[in-house]
Amino acid sequence: MKKKWWHDKVAYQIYPKSFKDSNDDGIGDLQGIMEKLDYLKELGVGIVWISPIYSSPFVDQGYDISDYYAIDPAFGTMEDMEELLAEAKKRDIAIVMDLVVNHCSDQHEWFQKALKDPFGPYGKYFYIREGKNGNPPCNWRSYFGGSVWEQLPGYDNLFYLHMFAKEQPDLNWENPKLRQEIYEMIRWWLKKGIAGFRVDAIINIKKDLRFQDFPADREDGLCAGTTMLKYACGVMDFLQEMKREAFEPFDAFTIGELFDFQPQELERYIGEQGCFESIFDFAPHLLGESENGWYDRRNVSMDEFRDAIFESKAVTQEIGMMANIIENHDEPRGVSRYLPKDGQNERGKKLLAGISLMSFGLPFLYQGQEIGMTNKEFCSIEEVDDISTLDEYRVALEHGLSKEKALLVVSEMSRDNARTPMQWSREAHGGFTKGTPWLSVNENYREICVEEQERREDSVLTFYKKLIALRKDPEYGETVVYGRQEPALEELQDFIGFYRKGKEKTLLVLANVQREKRTVCIAPAAKRVVLDNCDSGLELKGMAGWKDGSQIPMKGYQFLILEVEEIF
Ligand code: GLC
Ligand code: CA
Repeated sequence: MKKKWWHDKVAYQIYPKSFKDSNDDGIGDLQGIMEKLDYLKELGVGIVWISPIYSSPFVDQGYDISDYYAIDPAFGTMEDMEELLAEAKKRDIAIVMDLVVNHCSDQHEWFQKALKDPFGPYGKYFYIREGKNGNPPCNWRSYFGGSVWEQLPGYDNLFYLHMFAKEQPDLNWENPKLRQEIYEMIRWWLKKGIAGFRVDAIINIKKDLRFQDFPADREDGLCAGTTMLKYACGVMDFLQEMKREAFEPFDAFTIGELFDFQPQELERYIGEQGCFESIFDFAPHLLGESENGWYDRRNVSMDEFRDAIFESKAVTQEIGMMANIIENHDEPRGVSRYLPKDGQNERGKKLLAGISLMSFGLPFLYQGQEIGMTNKEFCSIEEVDDISTLDEYRVALEHGLSKEKALLVVSEMSRDNARTPMQWSREAHGGFTKGTPWLSVNENYREICVEEQERREDSVLTFYKKLIALRKDPEYGETVVYGRQEPALEELQDFIGFYRKGKEKTLLVLANVQREKRTVCIAPAAKRVVLDNCDSGLELKGMAGWKDGSQIPMKGYQFLILEVEEIF
């Protein structure tokens, strides 16, 4: 694999609204991020991805952009942004912005002009189509519920397309003028000194231009927007063009958000000539999903989680480096979602951290993950802000769930779980703001917060620091970053084991994902304990002498990284 500057880094996602509020208006901001750069540096972070900070009406929390060239006043000014870039640079932290170009906001000047003159030049920036006698042109369902088509105000039979909310009209990538506007904007930001982009919902930019009905997959008579994507060919032409015209001249770091791709397509995404540098590995996150909605999801075991990772790594590590996450701003908190109930404690959280950071890939932490922040308990649907949770709640009710039950199922998956304010201290509102936070803080901020964990040698935060440091470790760094990942002890249940085979060193990662202790027999002789979430002082002396393996006693939810003899 050709080495890249970002391979040995750890990335960190900031959800700006909820990270740190510097002026106490209840909304996190750029000055707040600046206050915490030293904290991030200390954690070992080398890349920071900031979710959208552009001007926005916030229908979808900034993923509806009304001006790509402006910072939303809620977050600060362009001067703040420039200051942030300079301060980050001093600390050798690369800043990555969110690139949301499948759609914009209905308040964007382009769309406002299109509304005034749908047949004029700006009408062609969007997908505006005639309906069928006042009904939408076809039966596709948007990701946030309802038809993807919305009537154009003032026209009985004209509709515009929106894959997400109706306030997020899709941009017409078939129009070369629109594409050039986007590339110019990308170059403008790269010139400012950002390192690159996380590329939002990008696979949606190519549509099935026939705009035809598909068989309905729910009682609403609609079919999922993703069905259409299967018939939309040619997205790669757009992506390669964008790379050539906008990313490549700046050697930008790009990481794509995409869900539906076939293993054989991976080369084209992140291979040597790929259109992106990396993409997120969502394999474990797709488990348990149901076409019917959140109310119909199935619980996922850690063994399934493990299998999904192994399957994905087997295919991907030959081709490129994907990014590993356990959560992001669209997902519930990883520790609440994946860990069995009896493992939802500091030991279990460290175990999950270890699996994610020791798997082959670029680790992406989401704010608060490093202290083990958990899902929030929502007492009423009124506490929920997220547009997608509100839709799933409606779907659950329609399917006959009681209000209580519906709240329970959407609470488990709600995107707001990850969007509650960062828990900095035991002060009111977790030290996030002195004002009233835009979304209330999780009640557990006194038990789970940075201030407390920074002082404690055995905290989740300290363990993250140790894991992160391993990527740059003179002895093990090469193995942790580039070592081949191979399953180990796959036959065990409630267990995750894998090797990382580097040039010089072989590491064996062992995770006992159950409350009960057990003894595992490993094939190669163990040489050294590199990391242990129990600080159990495990003595390997005597074990290494075993001819055909070592017996490793493990406590419940123990996680170990061992250096072992080479066996391959
Ligand atoms: C991506 C974002 C999500 C947003 C959607 C529409 O999936 O991560 O937050 O709602 O795109 O922009
Ligand atoms: Ca603020």
